[in-house]
Amino acid sequence: AAVVEHTFNVGNLTVNKLCQDRVITAVNEKLPGPTILAKEGDTVIVHVNNNSPYNITIHWHGIYQLLTAWADGPNYITQCPIVPGRSYAYNFTITGQEGTLWWHAHASILRATVYGALIIRPRAGSDAYPFPKPHKEIPIILGEWWNANVVDVENAAFLSGQGPTNSDAYTINGSPGDLYMCSYKQTYKLEVVQGETYMLRIINAALNNQLFFKVANHSFTVVAVDASYTMPYKTDVIVIAPGQTVDALMVADASPSASYYMAARAYASAVNLAFDSTTTTGIVQYKPVGTNRSTTADPPVMPSLPDFFDTPTAYRFYTNLTALIKPASPKVPLHVDERMFVTIGLGFAPCGAGQTACMGQALSASMNNVSFAFPTRMSLLEAQFKGTKGIYTSDFPNMPPLVFDYTNQSMNTDPAAGSLSVTPKGTKVKKVKYGAVVEMVLQNTALLAIESHPMHLHGFDFFVLAQGFGNYNASTDVKSYNLVNPQVRNTIAVPTGGWSVIRFKANNPGMWFMHCHLDVHLTWGMAMAFEVENGPDAASTLPPPPPDFPTC
Ligand code: C2O
Ligand code: CU
Repeated sequence: AAVVEHTFNVGNLTVNKLCQDRVITAVNEKLPGPTILAKEGDTVIVHVNNNSPYNITIHWHGIYQLLTAWADGPNYITQCPIVPGRSYAYNFTITGQEGTLWWHAHASILRATVYGALIIRPRAGSDAYPFPKPHKEIPIILGEWWNANVVDVENAAFLSGQGPTNSDAYTINGSPGDLYMCSYKQTYKLEVVQGETYMLRIINAALNNQLFFKVANHSFTVVAVDASYTMPYKTDVIVIAPGQTVDALMVADASPSASYYMAARAYASAVNLAFDSTTTTGIVQYKPVGTNRSTTADPPVMPSLPDFFDTPTAYRFYTNLTALIKPASPKVPLHVDERMFVTIGLGFAPCGAGQTACMGQALSASMNNVSFAFPTRMSLLEAQFKGTKGIYTSDFPNMPPLVFDYTNQSMNTDPAAGSLSVTPKGTKVKKVKYGAVVEMVLQNTALLAIESHPMHLHGFDFFVLAQGFGNYNASTDVKSYNLVNPQVRNTIAVPTGGWSVIRFKANNPGMWFMHCHLDVHLTWGMAMAFEVENGPDAASTLPPPPPDFPTC
């Protein structure tokens, strides 16, 4: 195993997008930022120097962080921000995972421009993939772009208590693509050789939208999601929620005399909410062979993307995946220590202090009707480690306060249920013993809007045992659990107006954030954390923080 070392200088970068020069926050003057390439077993050290005007942290999305919770990165959960002018070295070892992950800022909305790929190859190299070695591996990072300064966008959203304005473009590897104004020259291009196989390492780094992704006249074989291998799954459309990754093999088997768009646009799971309805594109071109030069001046072939509201296509993709079982694959634990039934939904809260442009009520989001409030004096992890009182409470409920018809939107106006849509704030965590097996039913509610929430758990992968629409029914739905080869993920797009059941073993001490990966819902409070206690020995005890650890 090796040490993979990087320096990330976070600072201002001027880029020209959508016809104008804009100043953004970026790492090493790149958008997307640098790719971290490592092998399973390697130690990764990233020296982050904050030369930007904003407080920042970096999160290594999907990395287990075994006994290194101090390096996980979510602002005020595991650490206080790296303030302007300061540095912090994130230091962690990649244990027992391989595939595509990514890194992103985890302080305010800055992840809009502070993100990049984190690629983990098998210890024995790319010959050890459980599928034929691809000719090339290509990161495809889908993102979202605002013309305005994103911190201003977030501040305006906070002051009004409403959502942020829609983004101005989606992007592929930082570029909107040639369907947008002034974007032709920057359009991402992938040159392929006919007959070869390409592994697309697709990452959804967009802030607030799930996406459909296609390449005209080409199809995919999905071999991994969220850095967990899957049974090969053939499809011509990829559906990917913010936070998720998909590794898809694509054979260059189309006619080399044409070129082809790769394209992504929103899957709008909330039918009535505004969303960015534009399409980002890249271009797949075939390398000329011999004298047979492709001279076509025809525009690239455009794929036909699913309809914005095509929930059946999204559901089919999300539920058809199963794990590839290898001798070393972890088995689904059959005994459950902590059973939780957790509603996730949107609601209202009174306008808060400082929300000067808020009229009447602010929008809010919650888990079991608790809207998460970030601490300000100390990170949860530091408070856990030192035993400091008054930063959080360990009373996150295992059940919602009321059992009702979660799919019934009209209950929002029912005075009897009205209290459910006015959400109290709290910094509540769920405390679990080291090694406990946790099962969570995540149930969407329809009080404000029916929407699919991509719920992300830090520090662990989880088994996705079952998913469905409507209200979860404990006595019948348990029969549909896949306990043999369920897909393994770190981010689950809970079906719109439906539920998902996940299970994981809490075998890593620390504070592990769980939240909706739609940035706007995180800012509204759709979050909680697991406080996992130390185990019996040194191998299950969190060591002290490193000397340069950022405190408040
Ligand atoms: Cu990718 Cu808590 O985030
Ligand atoms: Cu959400």
